[in-house]
Amino acid sequence: MEKNMENLLEQMTLEEKIAQLMQLATFFYKGAAGDGEITGPLEDMGITNEVVQNSGSVLGASGAKEVSNIQKEHLADNRLGIPLLMMADIVHGFKTIFPVPLAIGCSWDQELAEKSAEIAAKEASVSGVHVTFAPMVDLVRDPRWGRVMESTGEDPFLNAVFAKAFVRGFQGDDLTHDHFRVAACVKHFAAYGAPEGGRDYNTVNMSERQLLESYLPAYKAALDEGCEMVMTAFNTVDGIPASGNKKLMRDLLRDEWGFDGVIISDWGAVKELIPHGVAEDEREAAKKALEAGVDIEMMTACYAKSLQELVESGEMSESLIDESVLRILQLKNKLGLFENPYRGTSEELEEELIMSTEHRKVAKELAVKSCVLLKNENVLPLKKNQKVAIVGPFATNGDVLGPWSWHGSRDDAVKVYDGFLTKTAASNITVAKGSDIETVTEDQLTEAVNAAKDADVIVLAVGEESEMSGEGGCRADIKLPEAQLTLIQKMKELDKPLVTVLFNGRPLDLHGIIDQTDAVLEAWYPGTEAGHAIADLLYGDANPSGRLSMSFPYSVGQVPVYYNCFNTGRPQGDDKQERYVTHYLDIPNEPLLPFGYGLSYTTFAYSEVSLSSEKLSGDSEIKASVHVTNTGNVAGEETVQFYIRDIAGEVVRPLRELKGYEKIMLNPGETKVVTFTITEEQLRYYHSDLSFTSDNGAFQALIGPNSNDLAIGNFYLKK
Ligand code: BGC
Repeated sequence: MEKNMENLLEQMTLEEKIAQLMQLATFFYKGAAGDGEITGPLEDMGITNEVVQNSGSVLGASGAKEVSNIQKEHLADNRLGIPLLMMADIVHGFKTIFPVPLAIGCSWDQELAEKSAEIAAKEASVSGVHVTFAPMVDLVRDPRWGRVMESTGEDPFLNAVFAKAFVRGFQGDDLTHDHFRVAACVKHFAAYGAPEGGRDYNTVNMSERQLLESYLPAYKAALDEGCEMVMTAFNTVDGIPASGNKKLMRDLLRDEWGFDGVIISDWGAVKELIPHGVAEDEREAAKKALEAGVDIEMMTACYAKSLQELVESGEMSESLIDESVLRILQLKNKLGLFENPYRGTSEELEEELIMSTEHRKVAKELAVKSCVLLKNENVLPLKKNQKVAIVGPFATNGDVLGPWSWHGSRDDAVKVYDGFLTKTAASNITVAKGSDIETVTEDQLTEAVNAAKDADVIVLAVGEESEMSGEGGCRADIKLPEAQLTLIQKMKELDKPLVTVLFNGRPLDLHGIIDQTDAVLEAWYPGTEAGHAIADLLYGDANPSGRLSMSFPYSVGQVPVYYNCFNTGRPQGDDKQERYVTHYLDIPNEPLLPFGYGLSYTTFAYSEVSLSSEKLSGDSEIKASVHVTNTGNVAGEETVQFYIRDIAGEVVRPLRELKGYEKIMLNPGETKVVTFTITEEQLRYYHSDLSFTSDNGAFQALIGPNSNDLAIGNFYLKK
């Protein structure tokens, strides 16, 4: 197979090779809807039609008809008949939209996550997509950053679990023959999730050890699962922009990890080497990016305009270009595009498969599992004969898909009100918008009061509109907008039970919500089946089981705040008045709600941790067990979490690190024993010399319902 591609490469002219490395958006192509407008953008970019004819891939094309037209027109003009790769952002669903990844993280359910990616791949591939720009696996600790909703959260272990699940779901086992799957592109390499101040695209500053320990494992996990592509990040890593960072791409990805798939820049990131201040012009940007390892340049034309001259002047070896082109051709070959450039694309299958009942069923299941019950003081579940007022800007709003759902339609989304209609008679429900997202009028408040005054319970459907998170959607104040806090206050005056359902793309500062209302369900952006999932949960037809995969700060002043932090030399003890210990004068150190937290309609009791031995050697193992009992009145699913603490390391170790978890279903009164296996391998970490080893000494195995509520078993390692 490789041989063929090498033969093909040999037949290509330098111009044709360079054009393969360029990725442009759909509107540049003949055959795209609304074509004929390409002259302007081409002139702006300084490239010719010839480059477009020979380009290697397209960004954002989808829809069987359009994609087939583009491919047909392209092949008609392309001398060697090299098909285009169609790439798009299919992040959490194509048309059937699943919960945003941060919500999926809260499901702790890798099987369903995989299934969601498989469905997304199927819908996208019949619509003509070959590669998805997902999974995004950037570790996140700062909820001000708008893109936390695209990540599965703050934990390296959990992120790695989901990275693998998504890659399996997107790619399956055989991309060549299974045309219902797409190649995955893990992003954004590396550490895009750690911008200073939580401001998108901002500088990332961290030690190499921290990068290795916390930020890289999820990308590595995706690649271990066979992920075909990597996208570079916009940010700098240790002073060098990721898209021109040889150490990250050539040294780490290629040489150390052995990755031989395609590396693509993020949108415009090659040219951005100029404003970053590491390239004086496009020519230098092109040279730096290619030499550092970027194969495909997305949406700027530094390669197209400069590589030929760089080769002809002897400043760059053509073999560098050949390597990149070969990788792209090999991916096309692997996807079966030379045999069938139209691959899975089919207008009939689009009709048949997209948004099928089966797909929506999985979307609902995952939405149910992704919502997290944050508070419940004897109001939930609702009773079907109660009179309920649904109040708030999300009561009848389809903006529940999240900011990364280009192909999804808000019209298809089940609104909160629609969900309620499946549970109780229309005569039991009143609805009022109550406020807009960021403004409120007296009339709106009056309307809300009128709608709610005869109700038995008020459900507040409030949150951030989707534009308030996602790319470029950063906020310095992460409270619910003032207008909606006013609405909550107004409803509180009615002195009725208040249930809040939150739609948002980040952990919020919950003051004004959690202290003012009796129950809070964090729904995130649940996707197409939002209303059905929420109604099932609120009426008790499903029991909430989501657990936070990112801490909720007490206030933005604590950020970054995350569970696997260090103790410091002056940890705060029980005496909160003590001055010379690490603390704030005005707020607690702890987040409002910790990683792993979530309530259920039942309660679970944990026993002490019992260990099969207190001594671990290099090749033995310890079994750590707890008994978990459902002490409530309904069946429920518990996520039993297992953490480890290394009491004294060569470098400071986190207070706890997630090493495993198990989800169990328990009937009322039922007890199950949950056992985790501890091995020496789990105790390894990066030392000051970057060696990855363990140290003899004392450890703790911690097991419990969340990262803050853990029973401890002590053991020691002696190798
Ligand atoms: C985003 C990427 C995305 C790309 C292509 C960029 O702005 O950062 O996540 O894949 O656009 O749409």
